[in-house]
Amino acid sequence: MHDASRQWHAQDLKVGLVPTMGALHAGHLSLIEAARAENEFVVVSIFVNPIQFGPGEDFARYPRDPAHDEALLSETRVDAVYRPSVDVMYPPGSSTRVHVSGVADPLEGAARPGHFEGVATVVSKLFTAVEPDRAYFGQKDAQQAAVVKRFTRDLDFPVEIRVCPTVREADGLALSSRNAYLRPEERLAALSLSSALRLAAAAHAAGERRPDELRKVLCGRLEAEPLARVEYAEVVDPETFMPPGKLAVLAVRIGKTRLIDNHDLSAVFPG
Ligand code: PAJ
Repeated sequence: MHDASRQWHAQDLKVGLVPTMGALHAGHLSLIEAARAENEFVVVSIFVNPIQFGPGEDFARYPRDPAHDEALLSETRVDAVYRPSVDVMYPPGSSTRVHVSGVADPLEGAARPGHFEGVATVVSKLFTAVEPDRAYFGQKDAQQAAVVKRFTRDLDFPVEIRVCPTVREADGLALSSRNAYLRPEERLAALSLSSALRLAAAAHAAGERRPDELRKVLCGRLEAEPLARVEYAEVVDPETFMPPGKLAVLAVRIGKTRLIDNHDLSAVFPG
């Protein structure tokens, strides 16, 4: 991977990287399109990163479907698919972790200890292997994108971080590889996330700015859904992920499936 990237750079051509864990969907494809639009070379990495999953999380059953990924990728133009094995990424004896504090601490950081350390470590290693000029992340995982921006600056990676809009189903559900876990009645219940964000954006548009009232709108909608269990529903600053702010962020369990979503309440909710 490194050699290929060196050769492209020797021709003074730009390289865009789209890091993924596979189980590709239209959200991933939108990142690839964005990379395609501004780089001569596009690399997609596919690696289900064991160290960003906590004990009891879904690492073992995370959807892995190389044939499906290949079929989707064959519809777009990518120049390389980088698919390292766990042993290549973390050879025996490997014991270094990238720990980000501040923005990585609240919300997802608090709910999933070690998660962002795993993300920051693997993305750093991908940056070293691929040496991209630009790397593409989804707003769907807004806090992850903020963590990546933070360590990219702090560790002086010469990589521009691009954050692309969340791709949703027609009914509002944010695309996610984990949606595959949802049974039909859970798929319906999962609409409570986008619907709560839509209601909160409407309240914001009507002039509501009190954080507690906006939280009440979010929680009211989520708690009306019997299959949903709210982990957090907050309205935070999009840089620090601490209140106050205008980014509504949600983590909700639908049955056993943990879903996250977010929306900038000053923008109209799509659809
Ligand atoms: P994964 O969940 O596969 O997501 C890869 C990228 O796709 C992330 O940047 C994510 O925010 C983006 N994405 C997912 N769903 C999206 C949607 N509906 N709309 C737009 N973008 C979407 O996130 C990871 O993998 C991993 O943590 C990774 C960064 C690869 C590190 O292991």
